[in-house]
Amino acid sequence: MSEPLARVHSFLNGPPAGSLDADGLVPGDGTVQLPARRPFDTSLADALTRRRSAYSYGAGPLSTQDIAHLLGWAAGPQRVTRGHRFNMAPSAGGLPSLDIYAIARDVAGVPAGVHRYDRSAGTLSALRLGDPTRALRSVLVQPEFATRAAVVLAVVARLDVTLAKYPIRHYRTVHVDAGILAQNLYLVAASAGIACCAVAGFDDAAVTELLGLDETAFPAVLFTAGPACS
Ligand SMILES: Cc1cc2nc3c(=O)[nH]c(=O)nc-3n(C[C@H](O)[C@H](O)[C@H](O)COP(=O)(O)O)c2cc1C
Repeated sequence: MSEPLARVHSFLNGPPAGSLDADGLVPGDGTVQLPARRPFDTSLADALTRRRSAYSYGAGPLSTQDIAHLLGWAAGPQRVTRGHRFNMAPSAGGLPSLDIYAIARDVAGVPAGVHRYDRSAGTLSALRLGDPTRALRSVLVQPEFATRAAVVLAVVARLDVTLAKYPIRHYRTVHVDAGILAQNLYLVAASAGIACCAVAGFDDAAVTELLGLDETAFPAVLFTAGPACS
């Protein structure tokens, strides 16, 4: 991160509020191939009307199909034009300014742990394995999300990508990109009957450590998901 932005972050965050509790997590590898996203059968009007932030989640896992549907429609590839791949969520300059990580607690077919989503391949690759509940409790301002949601997605802003092309004022643009992606996630979740909530209340440094980010990236917003209450 460039020096002026490092100062902005440090000013906004203040001293670290807590520290990551990574007990139960070990370095991991292995890749899960997600199934193809299923067709959409809900209208945009329905999805907009049904969209909610959920604070209660149903028991049991999310299915691999659910997570594939959510990630594929909200963030996956959309088209290739003149050799450049564009995604479902628009971004400034069409740049791949955001990465997505899935911190999985209870997703059938996906080992519990921290995974990185690869849009082109439609895969989740493990970075850490083990139950992430303690780690999530330690990084969230509202730790109750850690025991309720089946998965927490982390939307990570890639300053190296955006600032390689644009001047520093585009620090703002990565937040717009993240907001658009969050709304895509909300609408796809609503259409699929998945309970979810955008979460801005987290400790930046602790999430950065949990995801193993370097200084060119930072977590912009988290997004919980789980089965809807019946
Ligand atoms: C960017 C963003 C961040 C949010 N962060 C939190 C959060 O940290 N904790 C929380 O309980 N709700 C969070 N929310 C959910 C909002 O409180 C919620 O969207 C708002 O109350 C409207 O409710 P609705 O989404 O059900 O329409 C967030 C929403 C957005 C869009």
